[in-house]
Amino acid sequence: MDKNWRLDYHGDHALLTLDVQGQSANVLSQEVLNEFDKHLETLETKMLAGVILRSGKVSGFIAGADVREFEKIDDPVHATELAQLGQRVLSRLAGLPYPSVAVIHGFCLGGGLELALACTYRIVRDDPGTRLGLPEVRLGIHPGFAGTVRLPLLVGDFVALDMMLTGRTLSAREARRRGLVDEMVPERHLMNAAVAFLKKNLPRRKAPWYRRMPAWKLLRSWVVKLMAARVRRKANPDHYPAPWRILDLWREQAREDREAESLGELLVGRTSRNLVHVFLLGEALKRHGKQQAHDIEHVHVVGAGVMGADIAIWATNKGFRVSLQDREPEILARAVKKAHGFFKSKFKDPRAVQEAMDRFMPDLEGHGLKRADLVIEAIVEKAGPKQELFRAVEQKVRPRTLLATNTSSIPLEVIGEALKDPSRLVGLHFFNPVAKMQLVEIVRGAQTSAATLGRARAFTGAIERLPLDVKSSPGFLVNRILMPYLLEAVKLVEEGVSLVTIDNAATEFGMPMGPIELADAVGLDICLSVAEELAGPLRIDVPERLREIVSQGYLGRKTGQGFYRYDARGRKQTPAPEKIAVDVPVTERLVLRLLNEAVACLREAVVSDADAVDAGMVYGTGFAPFLGGPMRYVESLGVTGISHSLHRLSQEYGPRFNPDSGWSRPELLVRSPQSSSKP
Ligand code: NAI
Repeated sequence: MDKNWRLDYHGDHALLTLDVQGQSANVLSQEVLNEFDKHLETLETKMLAGVILRSGKVSGFIAGADVREFEKIDDPVHATELAQLGQRVLSRLAGLPYPSVAVIHGFCLGGGLELALACTYRIVRDDPGTRLGLPEVRLGIHPGFAGTVRLPLLVGDFVALDMMLTGRTLSAREARRRGLVDEMVPERHLMNAAVAFLKKNLPRRKAPWYRRMPAWKLLRSWVVKLMAARVRRKANPDHYPAPWRILDLWREQAREDREAESLGELLVGRTSRNLVHVFLLGEALKRHGKQQAHDIEHVHVVGAGVMGADIAIWATNKGFRVSLQDREPEILARAVKKAHGFFKSKFKDPRAVQEAMDRFMPDLEGHGLKRADLVIEAIVEKAGPKQELFRAVEQKVRPRTLLATNTSSIPLEVIGEALKDPSRLVGLHFFNPVAKMQLVEIVRGAQTSAATLGRARAFTGAIERLPLDVKSSPGFLVNRILMPYLLEAVKLVEEGVSLVTIDNAATEFGMPMGPIELADAVGLDICLSVAEELAGPLRIDVPERLREIVSQGYLGRKTGQGFYRYDARGRKQTPAPEKIAVDVPVTERLVLRLLNEAVACLREAVVSDADAVDAGMVYGTGFAPFLGGPMRYVESLGVTGISHSLHRLSQEYGPRFNPDSGWSRPELLVRSPQSSSKP
């Protein structure tokens, strides 16, 4: 017995259990691999019918390599050696003189799946929590423990490439269908099934020949072309090299040594470093949401518009009982239809759809208030109506009911004036679309109590969103940083720069969508009202062009025209591409206004530190993940260079580019070495 593994013998077979100390999930650190190697050395000398590998954790089999170790490696040779260690140990497992079987439940990801691939057989537990996959590409790398070699042999080339290029995970059922696993059985039969497999001693499973056809020399370059076209739509090779490396390795039909070498280079590269940073920020926010158990069963949402309906549907989807109130019956009817569509697409089983619909209650009269543990307000963005609503709500709910507002710009203190006890009011600021954007800003007003904040974070964690603490100040964090960037884009339109040039500049920089298209999607009336709300406190000008277009009734995609035109199905009609070269620093102007505002937020302590800015912007807006977030980007550019550029732009374009005073306070901008795990 050692720290992480336990080896037992049961009659003619061995049972090797992994239970990594001090972790809730198993991860493959160097230490774990070295200990595994020692056990394999012992096992090699035994005469056995076989060995069974399993996890001692409730959470699952193995969640992958230890991502925290990646951050400590800064030399590609060292990174390659780490991959070679994994490859050596797993090839020892594959070469045992008798069969091995991996018994899998819960997460079996990355290095964990590669370990399972090295076994002779794989058996999975039949339940919805089982997920198998190679998600390395999401961290800017590819499998490094011979996964790129073994996976195609088992499931065929198309399935293997799809799994590695997208990083998507497979359910137990799909894994069985694709041939990734040999058997799927209920929990109570797992061990018996494993022993039976060892006894049967069947030949190792292989993909049938026709699934390996894509690797035939004559077909290979055609397949690469096909896959490259798919990858190009998602990943710019300059920003995300990993999928392209996966294709290269496959085209060359590379062996383990090339895989290790290529992984070594990627692991120390900028993209992977930043994606790991973003991943760890997300994990830290998840932990933040799990610090305390939530005490909420019934959620009552008021306002069934764009946001209210989506919040209610999402909370129902995550198992809560939800009542949804609106003063307009037609709007409620629309929300019910939307909920039904959502659940139907989510669950294949009609019973599951019915169960979800049973938890989702349209509630014109607001009967749900009496039973609610949490009320979320999502009505019009006006202080008066919100105050009036909360005044009435406070009289109807129980004393312990948590009160939350989804306001994007009204200070909590103003809404709280209507309450006898404003300490129970918190902002739960969701982003649109709720099902896609993972972030929720937990807005702390001057009177919000610590207990209220704790409950709000716990609820956010329970609906699998990421809670980020922010101070109640104009625009909170995300909208405030985004607004100057959007307004700069409108200024560029005013100056005659074409829409396509502006949006392309942003997407080439790495944003998921250009600012003009984003403004059209959010709604230009909403942009204008948030801009006007922020204009005073942030001393920003609202471009005339924005007022003009709103006054003409062009409100964006929802009205069929904003800056762009949209067809009846809401698809953007792309104008003719720009022909003349533009002599304006478009990207620089957009990005520097965003960075300048991010620093202003740090100076005003809207969030705790630079990591929180990165987490907010990546998970709330999709800010270029390969750059690691705005502050990580600042770190890579250097403060001096940025200040210099801001000075230059302010001379040319006016005081909106004046560098914020926060730039001269390095303690705000530099993160502590360990801070990436705690925003
Ligand atoms: P919306 O206009 O789509 O929906 C508001 C709904 O509230 C309407 O259905 C209206 O009938 C209903 N309503 C108004 N007064 C009511 C009352 N007294 N009782 C019951 N129902 C009432 O608005 P949207 O866009 O959903 O925004 C709602 C809130 O969420 C606002 O505070 C907004 O700032 C915030 N928000 C909006 C985002 C967006 O992208 N649209 C993003 C994040 C927050």
